Amino acid sequence: MCGIVGAVAERDVTQILLEGLRRLEYRGYDSAGLAVIDEHQTIQRSRVKGKVQELADTFSENPFRGRVGIAHTRWATHGEPNVKNAHPHICRDIVALVHNGIIENQETLKKELISKGLEFYSDTDTEVIVNSVYLALQEKDDLLDAVFKVCEQISGSYALGIMSKIDPDRLIAVRKGSPLVIGVGVGEYFIASDVFALLPVTQQFIFLEEGDIADINRDQLIIYDAKRNKVERSINISRLNADVADKSGYRHYMLKEIFSQPVAISDTLEKRLNNKLIANNIFGEQSDEIFTKIKSVKIVACGTSYHSGLIAAYWLEEIAGIQCHVEIASEFRYRNSVISDNTLFVCISQSGETADTLAALSLAKQEGFLSTLAICNVAESSMTREADLVFLTKAGHEVGVASTKAFTTQLVALYLLVISIAKQHGLSKADEAKMVEDLQSLPGRVNHMLQYEDEIKTLAADFADKHHALFLGRGSMLPVAMEGALKLKEISYIHAESYAAGELKHGPLALVDKDMPVIAVAPNNHLLEKLKSNLQEVRARGGRLYVFADRHSNLNNSDGLEAVQMEADYDHTAPILYTIPLQLLAYHVAVIKGADIDQPRNLAKSVTVE
Ligand code: M6R
Repeated sequence: MCGIVGAVAERDVTQILLEGLRRLEYRGYDSAGLAVIDEHQTIQRSRVKGKVQELADTFSENPFRGRVGIAHTRWATHGEPNVKNAHPHICRDIVALVHNGIIENQETLKKELISKGLEFYSDTDTEVIVNSVYLALQEKDDLLDAVFKVCEQISGSYALGIMSKIDPDRLIAVRKGSPLVIGVGVGEYFIASDVFALLPVTQQFIFLEEGDIADINRDQLIIYDAKRNKVERSINISRLNADVADKSGYRHYMLKEIFSQPVAISDTLEKRLNNKLIANNIFGEQSDEIFTKIKSVKIVACGTSYHSGLIAAYWLEEIAGIQCHVEIASEFRYRNSVISDNTLFVCISQSGETADTLAALSLAKQEGFLSTLAICNVAESSMTREADLVFLTKAGHEVGVASTKAFTTQLVALYLLVISIAKQHGLSKADEAKMVEDLQSLPGRVNHMLQYEDEIKTLAADFADKHHALFLGRGSMLPVAMEGALKLKEISYIHAESYAAGELKHGPLALVDKDMPVIAVAPNNHLLEKLKSNLQEVRARGGRLYVFADRHSNLNNSDGLEAVQMEADYDHTAPILYTIPLQLLAYHVAVIKGADIDQPRNLAKSVTVE
């Protein structure tokens, strides 16, 4: 999704802006640009379609300097990815602006602005903002007042960085519906879409709140809230490390992140267990007390995080006997759902900034849920600030757009949640201790699953020329199959579908032939024999099967069936284990296909617009 960086300093800020953009690359983008106000008080701009490195190369051919600047990586929403649509956008060499979000009333505004003589050079919705600020400046003669006025005219979501040559030492930052942080330096300030972009220059951050507008000079920062009152916002010291984003010798971030799962899982468990049992109140103050009242749980999330929620529903109903509904955030937020008494609302998000999930959380807070809980990987995110209860997964910074370690640590968090709830509803100490033991052995067992990489790599070669794939699972392995299909389509661009294996004969079997590889996850559990029958249905129709099975599943290599027999004894944590081979399969298929694994086309890491 679009990324914003900005700076006001005594020094030249162009390299800070470029480095900030590099650090936002993981969010996904298709064009990039930067602009500064130079020593002649002229706005200088450089933009490219493509990568930040191309921007850096273009910039170094025609460099400029400036002490106030803004920069942007664009993920196209209005208008195709090209130079004219890349940000910053400029109006009449007076105002320059970068934007993350969507302006919903842009068509009306554009007509009005054109009727007033303003010109448009791009297909973006952003240009209405920069032109409106220019127009307001003619009347107000003050950049901040002009921005106040424009914020009343535009509707939608927007994080903005705005500068003008009429006030060349000033930067205005606006946050409404899209994230924006302010980095506090010594005699300098920065803005960015996330903390990570600014870690090389500061560890001190102010998180703007919804509707805030910041008026930034080198030596002064004034923040106005949504009602335009001056407000103080506290400074937070980030504990993130500027260096976390190196590949540590791996070819791609995604592979590094797959292999860091044992550590990410043990970090997530740290301090959450006590004497072989779950520690008290790990989901927040008085969470155990709240859990005693729970009659049902509503889980809301998007994408991979939604899949983790689906697995949690199997656990919750089976282990705690508590009813659980799981819903996609973009659906939940636009329908009238019936909320029964004493329902806990749980949102799951790696980034904590996903627009639909955030909107669902805001809605939930008005809707009479028992309490709201955010399971999130980013401590300094909008979701963790908004929810009543918070559980942080400790996956560390996830750079690859395809989520891997965030997913498995979400599952660990959700399993802890289920046990914590079940404890308050009659789970025996012996059962709790057994589940905790399974969790404690998980890092080692995940590590073992990673050892099948070479075998999986060999299988991946079979997929490189395929256009479709079908993933099958039963029970809690169905969401694992869904996640496997999502990973494959995201990074290798192979069309992949997932089905409950029992549904095969109700339709999808018609698709099966020798060109449709069928992938199944087959742990040795009570559904194994049922699954085997489903696999027979595939083989009888000439389908080629790839089965990730427990070594005791008795599924052996034979004509039309490739089995990876794994040491993966079955317990409730099996969905976590069986996710690993599917991640590796997707990764190696994408490597063979030469795809852009860490930044797949059209996708963004953190989806901060609807
Ligand atoms: O940051 P979130 O967990 O809220 O993101 C939700 C989805 O956008 C995300 O999981 C997406 O599906 C991933 N690219 C999947 O790999």
